[in-house]
Amino acid sequence: MISEGKEQSARILATCLIAGAVMVAGFSLLTLYLAAPNDRWLQWTRKKKKPVRVYMDGCFDMMHYGHCNALRQARALGDQLVVGVVSDAEIIANKGPPVTPLHERMIMVNAVKWVDEVISDAPYAITKDFMKKLFDEYNIDYIIHGDDPCVLPDGTDAYELAKKAGRYKQIKRTEGVSSTDIVGRMLLCVRERSISDSHNHSSLQRQFSHGHNQKVEERGSGGTRVSHFLPTSRRIVQFSNGKGPGPDARIIYIDGAFDLFHAGHVEILRIARGLGDFLLVGIHNDQTVRLKNPSC
Ligand code: CTP
Repeated sequence: MISEGKEQSARILATCLIAGAVMVAGFSLLTLYLAAPNDRWLQWTRKKKKPVRVYMDGCFDMMHYGHCNALRQARALGDQLVVGVVSDAEIIANKGPPVTPLHERMIMVNAVKWVDEVISDAPYAITKDFMKKLFDEYNIDYIIHGDDPCVLPDGTDAYELAKKAGRYKQIKRTEGVSSTDIVGRMLLCVRERSISDSHNHSSLQRQFSHGHNQKVEERGSGGTRVSHFLPTSRRIVQFSNGKGPGPDARIIYIDGAFDLFHAGHVEILRIARGLGDFLLVGIHNDQTVRLKNPSC
């Protein structure tokens, strides 16, 4: 009888102790919340939050600043950017052969500072299976594309499924620059050169074009459309890393035309950067480039 009473009071005591401990812990957390400066509290909660992962796909053929600007905007819509580089076969099936093969396009996309991960051989359209893979394996929250329509050969929208799933976001396409446009400029160069060399320019056009002659003819010899990309000082700082060389930095200088910026340029810049601590790049102006290559 006595031992039964003791057991009961021990149980009551234990319950009281546990309840007390829970109350003290709750009180401490509340005090921490109230006492912590707002920004530190926000940082703490943000760290706990899962990063927003966004996916952008594309051909990235003859990569240009319009593509880089698209990647910059896509990255700004999340915390991590995963980029799908479309396979050669898929590009051929959907819009004609690319100028640059997949491995070169991969080098270019990988070199962009806003890109966190790259998926090789991505499909041209967001299929049901691929979308599932993006969500389940790559933890993608949103699929991003420029605000130009992306229509498949059968007339349907390549991003229809993502839109229906409510997981699609759009960025503003950079007007006045495109791979087709660049091919057009190249053709104009070829035509000028072939005329000055008194050769049959149409045979050269055939040799270089991939079905883009019509666009060149439409624009005439006056050149291509004017780019609407505004390189304000704020935007230029975003594209650069904003860092100057340290006091003892070994500064490497490299210059060039960097015309039709390609995987070879990326590689030489990477090697040059490895020779020192800071890489300064000089870009020849159009006049200098023309002197070197008078027919363009
Ligand atoms: N993009 C852009 N501005 C451009 C060109 C492309 O914002 N001037 C965007 C596209 O909307 C897309 C991504 O970059 O989200 C990849 O584009 P890509 O598949 O390479 O092809 P295109 O849109 O056909 O671009 P281009 O004509 O230059 O090949």
